[in-house]
Amino acid sequence: EKGGYDSFMEKEINDQPQAVADTLLGRSDADGRLTLDELRVSPEELKNVNKIMVLACGTSAYAGQVAKYAIEHWCRIPVEVELSHEFRYRDPIVDSNTLIVAISQSGETMDTLMAVRYAKEQGAKVLAICNTNGSTIPREADAVLYTHAGPEIAVASTKAFLAQITATYLLGLYLAQIRGNKFQGEIKDILADLAKVPAKIQQVLDSSDSIKELGNLMAGTSSVLFLGRHVGFPVAMEGALKLKELAYIHAEGFAAGELKHGPIALIEEGQPVFVVVPSPRGRDSLHAKVVSNIQEIRARGAKTIVIAEEGDDAVKAYAEHVFYVPETPTLLAPLLTTVPLQIFACALATAKGYDVDQPRNLAKSVTVE
Ligand code: M6R
Repeated sequence: EKGGYDSFMEKEINDQPQAVADTLLGRSDADGRLTLDELRVSPEELKNVNKIMVLACGTSAYAGQVAKYAIEHWCRIPVEVELSHEFRYRDPIVDSNTLIVAISQSGETMDTLMAVRYAKEQGAKVLAICNTNGSTIPREADAVLYTHAGPEIAVASTKAFLAQITATYLLGLYLAQIRGNKFQGEIKDILADLAKVPAKIQQVLDSSDSIKELGNLMAGTSSVLFLGRHVGFPVAMEGALKLKELAYIHAEGFAAGELKHGPIALIEEGQPVFVVVPSPRGRDSLHAKVVSNIQEIRARGAKTIVIAEEGDDAVKAYAEHVFYVPETPTLLAPLLTTVPLQIFACALATAKGYDVDQPRNLAKSVTVE
């Protein structure tokens, strides 16, 4: 049942091209028109939405953070992302024009379920993005968009994360379609780019030997930092979470722009730092800014491990190791840049002799508050 792999986690990392492809499957027609009839909420109701709040925990909350960049850009609707367990303890502002997007792999996370119930009491519409058919959160939600990642057994979430991100893209494009924010042609182009992602994830998987090797070599490491910017920021947080969960290593993800505001004080000789570099073809010179962050930390002795887009030669001079992922539009990049970080954490934890499927102190679904 592990499909020839040593662990469910490895299998699930390798299932990711399929998980993304299956989540896209049958949800748009040949003209690029999204057909999310399964949602159970009418386009009219969705047209009136003036704010989206994503509620989730852990990895699912990082999927929400990625979604914020995409949905705000495509739909011009403000998106807030909040940890479910913080939400109902702070008098949040939600009403009938707020769309709550509850993201949960299991559909049973108590913190998220309680947040959903609270939001419904306030009159908000709740849409669940969930990987488990018929679980409690989608049953209580007004609308559901299922991720089709297949059962996720390993405690650390991998393929569900990529499927969640994919589902939020579909939701964003659907909202853009029904609200007329984008021309159908643009939506079609983005869907075409998304359709190419599974093969690109496969390319990342096929070229993952060097990142596994690095994971093995770094088994003695006691602290790893992760930097990212724009959609690379939640990816950095996710990379750090995987390492904490699986390898019991102190790991932190930071927004690269925040470095000077504190975290750079942590950099000393030999400190490993992963940097998720935005595409050089992207907007706002973010690429140049992150490359200069790499220079800054390198100058202070950091061991820089860079995830960059194929063809990005500018990073080579400052990186101890570079892992290239195929070219893709910036907003879709998390579907590729996350994968090496998952593989790294899995390899490092395996090298330490830990059970990557059942890390200590953790449960697959957290059904208590
Ligand atoms: O089932 P859920 O998506 O609601 O679970 C949320 C978190 O508990 C979950 O993502 C957790 O952080 C994972 N262990 C991450 O790998």
